[in-house]
Amino acid sequence: MDKTEEAADILAEYNQQHIITLLKKLDEAKKQELIEQINNIDFHQLKELYDNTKKEIEIKENKIVAIDYLDKEKLSKNETERFNNLGENIIVNGKYAVVTMAGGQGTRLGHTGPKGTFKLDVYGKGKYLFEILAENLKEANKKYNVTIPWYIMTSKENNNATQEFLEKNNYFGYDKNNVMLFEQGELPLMDTDGKLLIGKDLKIKEASDGNGGVFCSLRKTGMLSDMKERGVKWVFIGGVDNVLLKMADVTLLGMAIDRNPKERVGVFCKMNGHPKVIEYSELPEKMAEEVDNNGELKFGESHIMCNLFTIDAVEKISKEPLIYHSAFKKNSYVDENGKEIIPTEPNSYKFEAFIFDSFELFDDIAILRGKREDDFAPVKNKEGVDSPKTAKELYEKYWEKINKSMN
Ligand code: UD1
Repeated sequence: MDKTEEAADILAEYNQQHIITLLKKLDEAKKQELIEQINNIDFHQLKELYDNTKKEIEIKENKIVAIDYLDKEKLSKNETERFNNLGENIIVNGKYAVVTMAGGQGTRLGHTGPKGTFKLDVYGKGKYLFEILAENLKEANKKYNVTIPWYIMTSKENNNATQEFLEKNNYFGYDKNNVMLFEQGELPLMDTDGKLLIGKDLKIKEASDGNGGVFCSLRKTGMLSDMKERGVKWVFIGGVDNVLLKMADVTLLGMAIDRNPKERVGVFCKMNGHPKVIEYSELPEKMAEEVDNNGELKFGESHIMCNLFTIDAVEKISKEPLIYHSAFKKNSYVDENGKEIIPTEPNSYKFEAFIFDSFELFDDIAILRGKREDDFAPVKNKEGVDSPKTAKELYEKYWEKINKSMN
């Protein structure tokens, strides 16, 4: 059996006849490209993902209990100092690395290009999201007299644009040798009948596999080994879009060390005895509103995408398959006659792993509650909540407060 027949066999088995039809129409070079792509696709996994889209997400309320946390504001002076010392020790000794997940595009924001290249209109001149992150890390480097290795996760879609942008801006003054870009994985897009979408390039259309892909990608691209060679013991993993994100927070780090091996936003809880984050879209309304005896929200600890892991934890997760969630979205595709179809309604599933599903692999995790106005100013939507407007206000207010307290 030749390669084309082999590919056709797999496609027939998994009900992808439209791709067999396409294969027959392609010239030799294009055909080889498509066959190579087919050989790299795990059709069995895709079938499972398709079957899962037909199942209801079921979150049983009785199995979910609130999770313990520490409040940064309520720590005693001694406790804060103790945590800070523990945390500083790790950073000063070069045992700390930072990962920024920047695989997303700024679609919801209405920005074309990698999200990190979005310019927030602050202080008249404006600052790029990547610039704000670089400043945060440079400040830590200065304070602790180190250069924290900075790993940036891009996607196939935005890797080149990200690289060019950072080069052009001279990595915003960050030592280039300590900025490592790595690409995350992709999964094919699928319509409601389980058929894979074809793109304009006449290949199967794929999209980034979600922020939970970070662990596996760190390992596959050699970044995990790189961290180990550098003697890294603690890895901070954060998003690209929170302009108040503290990537080298010694209190958080110290607490994690101390408690080790122990946020509409996803909220933390314990399910069946294991730590878990339930995404806002999946949390029953009744639970979202439940309060404890002090009138505080029972599930009030929001996940702001500011997570610390030991290097061993990153390695462990990188070897475990995380579950995939499906999002039903609008995706253009090419039909059997080569005509591009641009849907007006959602037509296909995108599969994504979520970083916090990894928490369940552990018996416990530690949570530090921060103040929203100090730690969370996300840039998610074009307008309204979590938009450039709200982020600008929060960012400028925060820095005004900090500058005042220093004078
Ligand atoms: C995410 C969290 C939510 C949290 C909120 C806080 C998930 C599923 N949701 O929501 O619990 O309360 O942040 O801001 O984690 N990214 C990639 N590659 C991808 C997808 C995303 O690098 O394939 C990056 C984005 O660039 C961004 C971060 O991951 O930096 C989070 O984005 P997204 O997955 O879109 O989640 P949100 O809806 O913002």
